[in-house]
Amino acid sequence: MHIPVLVREVLATLNPQPGQWFIDGTVGTGGHARAVLEATAPDGRLLGLDADPAALKVARHNLETYGERVHLVHANFADLAEVAHRYGFFPVHGILLDLGVSSLQLETAERGFSFQAEGPLDMRYDPRSSITAYTLINDLSEEELAEILYRFGEERRSRVIARAIKQAWPVMTTTQLAEVVTRAVGGRRGARLHPATRTFQALRIAVNNELEVLMRALDAAVSLLAPGGKLAVISFHSLEDRIVKEFFAREAKDCICPSTPYPAHCTCGHRATLRVITKKPIVAHPEEIKMNPRARSAKLRVAERKENR
Ligand SMILES: C[S@@+](CC[C@H](N)C(=O)[O-])C[C@H]1O[C@@H](n2cnc3c(N)ncnc32)[C@H](O)[C@@H]1O
Repeated sequence: MHIPVLVREVLATLNPQPGQWFIDGTVGTGGHARAVLEATAPDGRLLGLDADPAALKVARHNLETYGERVHLVHANFADLAEVAHRYGFFPVHGILLDLGVSSLQLETAERGFSFQAEGPLDMRYDPRSSITAYTLINDLSEEELAEILYRFGEERRSRVIARAIKQAWPVMTTTQLAEVVTRAVGGRRGARLHPATRTFQALRIAVNNELEVLMRALDAAVSLLAPGGKLAVISFHSLEDRIVKEFFAREAKDCICPSTPYPAHCTCGHRATLRVITKKPIVAHPEEIKMNPRARSAKLRVAERKENR
């Protein structure tokens, strides 16, 4: 089962109160959603999105007791604004994005997210999407594959790995792919990461277009928040965290003209929409990490919607 991370910290920063409305853009199996619904009882409401219908099925079951207070939608959080408008669910007091993959998905071998269990090279959150890890690798040239491994996995041996994958193609399963990568770069004894970790991260990001949809979701989230409403994002790797950090920093500024001294030559007209609450990301306490090792890489950043001016 999926154990939600940083729940206490999410509640402390989002500060949900009875009657308020919240959006969970990555409802997963409903752990954070349940905490928010409890805090907003008896009449607060929650709109939950997930790209994965299997996760939603579990969330529906787990959140059944909240009845009409919760509405779950199969959607990509890139479409957050459209979905919230469709249900008249705005402005809201808070929005949570808990990014990446859930334990439920990782532990379901047929989803192809993990190299620890034999499964097809899939890695899609949303089974409606036509791009899987298999079709992606198949369609890419060796150079394009190396570029993806480098950009989305920060994999220094990207070229060697891409060449090995292409030479071994067709590779049908997760464990075969992990073996090809391990053979190509060798497993270092005592290394913290499995040699295929970065390759799997890169492919998952590419298959689900994760960085681009995150940028779209952040823009949408700002447009849905009431003044004083909070946006909380939990990320699990540096690429996501950098996007959130830079987005918050930009939205906290009154001028984003490139290297132009403000205010003398401002031409962009940009006005700050957010106030950053977490100057540094909040991370999990050692006790939480002991109970839930997935929390080790979690970083929570929170910002507050400013008044419209
Ligand atoms: C870390 S889990 C969230 C767990 C959840 N907070 C809980 O307490 O159970 C991330 C979830 O986000 C979903 N997801 C990832 N990218 C998404 C996207 N672009 N749009 C919607 N859901 C997405 C995944 O399917 C997964 O269920």
